[in-house]
Amino acid sequence: MKLKETLAAKIEAARPRTTRLLKEFGGAKIGEVTVAQAIGGARGVKCLVTDISYLDPMEGIRFRGHTIPETLKHLPKPKGKAFPFVEGHLHLLLTGDFPTAGQVDELVDEMHARRKVPQYVFDVLRAMPRDSHPMTMFSTAILTMQRDSEFKTAYEKGLDKLTAWEPMYEDVLTIMARLPVIAAYIYRMKYKSDTHIAASETLDLGGNFAHMMGVKSPYDELMRLYFILHSDHESGNASAHTTHLVGSTLSDAFYSLSAGMNALAGPLHGLANQEVLRWIQGVYDKLGGKVPSKEDLKAFVWETLNSGQVIPGYGHAVLRKTDPRYEEQRNFCLKYLPNDEIFQVVSMLYDVVPPILEEQGKAKNPWPNVDAQSGVIQWHYGVTEYDFYTVMFGVGRAMGVLSNLVWDRALGYPIERPKSLTTAMIEAAVGIK
Ligand SMILES: CC(C)(COP(=O)(O)OP(=O)(O)OC[C@H]1O[C@@H](n2cnc3c(N)ncnc32)[C@H](O)[C@@H]1OP(=O)(O)O)[C@@H](O)C(=O)NCCC(=O)NCCS
Repeated sequence: MKLKETLAAKIEAARPRTTRLLKEFGGAKIGEVTVAQAIGGARGVKCLVTDISYLDPMEGIRFRGHTIPETLKHLPKPKGKAFPFVEGHLHLLLTGDFPTAGQVDELVDEMHARRKVPQYVFDVLRAMPRDSHPMTMFSTAILTMQRDSEFKTAYEKGLDKLTAWEPMYEDVLTIMARLPVIAAYIYRMKYKSDTHIAASETLDLGGNFAHMMGVKSPYDELMRLYFILHSDHESGNASAHTTHLVGSTLSDAFYSLSAGMNALAGPLHGLANQEVLRWIQGVYDKLGGKVPSKEDLKAFVWETLNSGQVIPGYGHAVLRKTDPRYEEQRNFCLKYLPNDEIFQVVSMLYDVVPPILEEQGKAKNPWPNVDAQSGVIQWHYGVTEYDFYTVMFGVGRAMGVLSNLVWDRALGYPIERPKSLTTAMIEAAVGIK
């Protein structure tokens, strides 16, 4: 069965569950909000619903109920390759089912057919100052394509609540097909003397991205893994939540994703992967190019903390152990680049940083997150322009947040509107006169 038909059946089956919860149990409590949560970024407040992924503080992410190793094991893989089709993962996120090999082939073909990026997108990118941050370019390119939104057109004609997910789905597939092309274009325009490599007619999304970037195998394997690992981290993280919030106003997927990417561009979120490399570069600069020892790293970690900055790639708002996305990338490094010098520095940091963060006693989670490891692999394969790393994170993250948008429309989630209080109201509520 084609992806859209499979999805339609899943949506029909899911709708009555949401309707029943609202009708029969709408008043039931599932949590409470403390003063610390209201002032402190709604940390842990249970007020979002998604079935696409769930983040357990100790176990890490599950995609549609499956851990990362299970996901990588059961998704179909291109012939002779160790890592799965990214397209298959999109199918899993959207429907909850692992696709068959035939279903993946169909989706790969469908993505090929949708991949052509309109010339005006490149014209806009070329008109921007060449030193604009690649995330600014990426977000702009997505927003520029909004004029072609099928959802917007359907809205203008009169949107039917029951079928609103369909034009959203069309936009989502088109965006996912085009993002790797746009990302590789930005990379080569900015960093490879504006020379470009045309997309292949035969390769899958991950393979094609590596091909358009101009980086040889096993970079294709890395990018399959990378896009899958970065795809989703339930709904409360800043990029997912922003995309959902904007989409809840019935903005289309182009507006919503562009906004989500602007959230990803923050140094406390996706930009941390470039910050890790910048931070390590700072250590090398300080040591006049010498490979740092554990003692050097300890001193530099303390220096960073004492100057009031965070250690990029460490800590997490939800996780309370080493991020399994870090572990999966570490396994990749151990297999493909065990002797890489920066990988060894990153490994030393794994020993050095957690005890120091524990000693400092501020961070609730002293362990590394996904960003601590991802940059070093890119660096190894010659993608040393670390400003670009968050764009690749964005291509992966788009899969999760866009799958959520389709389901938001399928289940008819309303416009988001939490309630704010004044400081005086909170003071009164806790008895401060
Ligand atoms: C991810 C992050 C933003 C989560 O923030 P959070 O939920 O507020 O985290 P915590 O509740 O543990 O923060 C408590 C304190 O520890 C500090 N802290 C958390 N992680 C830290 C780190 N890696 N280095 C130094 N201090 C850190 C916070 O800044 C905060 O300090 P404050 O009380 O002075 O404001 C935070 O851990 C961080 O800034 N990490 C570095 C950036 C990064 O890697 N981001 C990518 C995340 S996937």
